[in-house]
Amino acid sequence: DIVFVLNGPNLNLLGTREPDIYGSDTLIDIEAMLADKARELGLVIDFRQTNHEGELVDWLHEARITGAKAVLLNAAAYTHTSIALLDAIRAIDVPVIEVHLSDPATREEFRHISYVGMGAVDEVKGLGPRSYAVALEKAAAL
Ligand code: DQA
Repeated sequence: DIVFVLNGPNLNLLGTREPDIYGSDTLIDIEAMLADKARELGLVIDFRQTNHEGELVDWLHEARITGAKAVLLNAAAYTHTSIALLDAIRAIDVPVIEVHLSDPATREEFRHISYVGMGAVDEVKGLGPRSYAVALEKAAAL
């Protein structure tokens, strides 16, 4: 089974971006760790990053066309702003699991709302890169 792992804006800068919040692992490190985890679970991941909201919408549609088992979505800042992402999540019949490295609920007020969360079947946050691994375990169990 294939699981899409979609990453939103600024996550390409992981490793150097606010390391006190997001840690020192790069997105490539996270992808490598998650690919190992996927092999253990008998899954294949399609791991991507974009800074563009509409591209995330297109990729959610693609997850449906591909027949993906699930989508792990770290929509980064679009989590807190994007009704278009919520609508896309609701439009596809693929379960979406919300993922965050940090825990937005313990940060600034403007991060407390999650449009992604209104459509997602589950969420994993605040565990750093391990958030992705735990989310993949949840996807495997769906
Ligand atoms: C994030 C949390 C978001 O609030 C923030 O905008 C990000 C990263 C995380 O993984 O902790 O860019 O999604």
